[in-house]
Amino acid sequence: MKHIIITGTSRGIGEALAQKLINSNHRLYCISRRPNQNLIDQDNHMQYYSFDLSETYKIEAFFQNLFAHIKRDPHPEGIYLINNAGVLSPVAPIEHNKAEDIARHMQINLIAPMVMTSHFVQHTKHIETDKRIMNISSASAKYLMPSQSCYSTSKAGLDSFTKSINLEQENQRNPVKIAAVYPGGVDTRLQTEIRSVRKEDFPYVDAFIQLEKAGKLQSPEETADALLHFLNQDDFGKQAVVEHLIPISG
Ligand SMILES: NC(=O)c1ccc[n+]([C@@H]2O[C@H](COP(=O)([O-])OP(=O)(O)OC[C@H]3O[C@@H](n4cnc5c(N)ncnc54)[C@H](OP(=O)(O)O)[C@@H]3O)[C@@H](O)[C@H]2O)c1
Repeated sequence: MKHIIITGTSRGIGEALAQKLINSNHRLYCISRRPNQNLIDQDNHMQYYSFDLSETYKIEAFFQNLFAHIKRDPHPEGIYLINNAGVLSPVAPIEHNKAEDIARHMQINLIAPMVMTSHFVQHTKHIETDKRIMNISSASAKYLMPSQSCYSTSKAGLDSFTKSINLEQENQRNPVKIAAVYPGGVDTRLQTEIRSVRKEDFPYVDAFIQLEKAGKLQSPEETADALLHFLNQDDFGKQAVVEHLIPISG
């Protein structure tokens, strides 16, 4: 049995990932604020946690509880964590960003994946199995635009964090393999949100409107296929940050 923890499963990429991972050989642990009843109805064994990842100080107790389930399996075939949950806002010039909005953004996009990784490594330290963490980053970490300072900073931070832990785990006897990946432009609510920002707050908004009009956005389903292909590769974690996902045809 593989145990797979996925954040941000109420919609978008996370929902598509969970949907594709439902099978009798997987035990899924899904996390978002709004529970996804459609997923819950399809998988009797799924543990669905309604949890706000901005409350990072609660993650320790939360993981204690989650790993109590995983540790009941004496011979796990693998234990995976997919840090997918993320937010875009605030999108505006920095002088308009409020301190509490900046802090909340960083808690969800950066601090939560860091704390979850910390507890994942602690809890799995003495478990000899295939252990992997996939962090969903973004090309915005590298390609910068005005008004997206929070998003670019949190994703660049996630990339650096992933590289650091990749190094840290490199020489461990039973390492956690870790990689961050840029999924490409995907047709989800996050993209709807970018398109609806006022031009005075985000001068590049027309480029995102055009991207959707031209049919250039990937579907969450095809993105999930490519991400799962990447996650399951034998050499997963060899490269800490992967900027180009290979699309899976068919
Ligand atoms: N779409 C793109 O073009 C694109 C491109 C590059 C990278 N990404 C990255 O891909 C990931 C998924 O994005 P998406 O496009 O699928 O976005 P989405 O449709 O907006 O979904 C975001 C998910 O994150 C969860 N989430 C947000 N805040 C949360 C919180 N405080 N606590 C727990 N869960 C929270 C949401 O659940 P609740 O609201 O129910 O909590 C939702 O399930 C993100 O990390 C994003 O940065 C997306």
